[in-house]
Amino acid sequence: GGTVWGCHHPPSTPPLPCLPSLPVLGSLLSLRGDQPLHLRLRELGHRYGPLYALYLGPHYTVVVNSYQHAREVLLQRGKEFAGRPKMVTTELLTRGGKDIAFSDYTPLWKIHRRLVHNSFTLFGEGSSRLQDIVLEAVEALCCDLQASRGQAVDPGPPLMRAVTNVVCTLVFSSTYQPGDPELTSVMEYNDGIVQTIANGGLVDIYPWLRFFPNQTLTRLRDCINIRDTLLNKKLEEHKVSLSVGEPRDLLDALLQGQTGDKQTRGSGVRGQGSRLEEEGICEDHVLMTAAEAFGAGVETTSTTLLWVLAFLLHHPQVQGRVQRELDEVVGCGRSPNVSDRAHLPYLDSVINEVMRIRPVSPVLIPHIALTTSSIGGHSVRKGTRVLVNMWAIHHDPDHWDTPQDFRPERFLDNEGRRITPSCFMPFGAGPRVCVGESLARLELFLFVSGLLQRFSFSPAPGVSLPDLQGRLGVVLQPLRYSLTVTPRPSWGVGAIRLAWFL
Ligand code: HEM
Repeated sequence: GGTVWGCHHPPSTPPLPCLPSLPVLGSLLSLRGDQPLHLRLRELGHRYGPLYALYLGPHYTVVVNSYQHAREVLLQRGKEFAGRPKMVTTELLTRGGKDIAFSDYTPLWKIHRRLVHNSFTLFGEGSSRLQDIVLEAVEALCCDLQASRGQAVDPGPPLMRAVTNVVCTLVFSSTYQPGDPELTSVMEYNDGIVQTIANGGLVDIYPWLRFFPNQTLTRLRDCINIRDTLLNKKLEEHKVSLSVGEPRDLLDALLQGQTGDKQTRGSGVRGQGSRLEEEGICEDHVLMTAAEAFGAGVETTSTTLLWVLAFLLHHPQVQGRVQRELDEVVGCGRSPNVSDRAHLPYLDSVINEVMRIRPVSPVLIPHIALTTSSIGGHSVRKGTRVLVNMWAIHHDPDHWDTPQDFRPERFLDNEGRRITPSCFMPFGAGPRVCVGESLARLELFLFVSGLLQRFSFSPAPGVSLPDLQGRLGVVLQPLRYSLTVTPRPSWGVGAIRLAWFL
């Protein structure tokens, strides 16, 4: 190993170590094997050093495995590396990059991203609407789980349903009962898209493959059609019933083009629409944003929750400690809400430790150098792709003590106060940081606190504990597992007292 050849580095700086590469295939032979990408990229780092290059087919790609280099790419020179490569599957998915995640770094993208960010803020910090939406979904999930009556259940489907409902309510104000055909359809097409994107790999490396019959692309197109029919219907309904004033949901907020700027707020739909159109935000952008809330917001959040439960099954003492903290701070007479969060540092540390040890996005969405820049003192040409391996950073023994161990206390100081190491970046960082971070954090907090206040989770009898290695699709997810849900006695007593009182 260690052969250095075939890399296109500018001659003035030392060449980056590069994996062997062949015409057409590039370095794909070195990436073969059973290991998921994040583990393979980290392992290659042991041979080639923490910063090395490879060819994904024809694409020269730099792999970043360390915090120091990730900080340069995401933060210090964040704007220089804020581009995104065009990929076949994502171009189809986003009507040529009219979304946020896969659009290149352009002036229009900045306006669009700010608009979406402000719309989220409007529902989050501006009002308690977001919290109410999530609490309603927590309530429904608890009823769902209660119905299992001590039988083993797979928590995947009810969690997925709950998080999908949050996004449906947030985006277009629909809330569904389990089994509703529209909800089922949303979950099916979303799952179809996620599966096909995960398998789309080769088409994205060799775009010409799309000219051959390709089952994955056909399935993707079908799912996208179902998605677009539904979202179009919702959009048309919103256009008809849209009024000046507080938006009902994200679609309203996007249609009104509210930028959080008091002067332009509520100044009439028509006027706003044309102002945004002048800037180039069109109906496709609105639709693609709505679609992305599902694509980026459902699988990530529900999978993180599945990891939380999987680790709690392995660490019952951690579950017990979270419950004691909840009992002390919240008690059993009311549901936890965001104002409790400041007083629940241990619960927060558990969520953080889960996102450290199993980041659902172990390799960030590829970045691209928009100009000639540098990483670690090596010159990097414009157009170079960069893969940031967050898994490697979250497991780096130089930054974390026994990184393979699940230890929530690492996010607390000796007095039990929160600490957040800067190399903890489950949502990325810099100009391309996740736009849904505050929504995701709100959901994780309300779901985990609500569930553990009311229930204890234990391994289903006679079934082995969940596998903790997981499988990498579009996100890193645990293999399916089942558990037993037991209502907590204290919560039962609280509920009975309330019933007596009523
Ligand atoms: C991007 C993580 C939930 C919307 C990202 C990125 C990560 C991430 C790692 C890529 C950053 C990069 O490429 O440098 C997560 C995690 C979540 C979560 C761990 C939940 C636990 C959400 C939610 C939404 C969302 C709920 C929206 C409803 C987005 C969007 C981008 C993104 C639009 C693209 C940002 C850009 O390219 O500018 N997320 N995310 N995410 N996320 Fe999330």
